[in-house]
Amino acid sequence: MSQDPREPLFQFAEQGLKSALKAERRIEPGSNLRASWEELLKEACACTRCELYKYGTQTVFGEGSLDASIVFVGEQPGDQEDLAGRPFVGPAGQLFDAALVDAGIDRSTTYVTNAVKHFKFIQRGKRRIHNKPDAGEIEACRWWLEQERALIRPAVTVALGATAARSLIGKVVTISRSRDEPQTLADGSECWVTVHPSFLLRIPEPDRRREERVKFVRDLKRIKARAEKLAA
Ligand code: URA
Repeated sequence: MSQDPREPLFQFAEQGLKSALKAERRIEPGSNLRASWEELLKEACACTRCELYKYGTQTVFGEGSLDASIVFVGEQPGDQEDLAGRPFVGPAGQLFDAALVDAGIDRSTTYVTNAVKHFKFIQRGKRRIHNKPDAGEIEACRWWLEQERALIRPAVTVALGATAARSLIGKVVTISRSRDEPQTLADGSECWVTVHPSFLLRIPEPDRRREERVKFVRDLKRIKARAEKLAA
């Protein structure tokens, strides 16, 4: 008797769902909103919209407050996020967390997600090397991001880097030219663009890395002030 070829995929989906639900402490209890978010999570954990589900450990869905006035969007989960089933928990996540503290933003009051929900990598020996998602993968995954945003309806969505900006704004943007002015999204809310935390990790010169980190924290402070103003 031939085996159902989809069976392993369901196992992956189940594993992803368990990891994601473990992170449920970060999602406020109660309300239809939470039920809708859980339904979305369940669907996302079985996503086959692009080929990436075949290679990663699990879907890494967003997490955080469903009341958030700020939604942060990264590129895609990295190696550690893929294993943990949570966004921004690896080296870039640690830098991000520290910058949020410096900007006076409590991560637990925000919602953190990625433009692409599966880890894309190239296997080199035992190492899995990050591989940038392509336009088709960003487009396929945009549906999930739009569903997350439609539930949370944040005043401000922050694109951390070019992939997130492309997903949210729908075109290629230059970070240096777009970080000072928000873009208006289709739902009328604001999208602010800043650098991706991994960009800071990759700068070899300590002075320049410090300078860029200062600019990143400045962006975060401005975003916090703007979200507070819009929410008031
Ligand atoms: N980089 C991202 O863009 N997202 C993560 O979750 C981790 C690293």
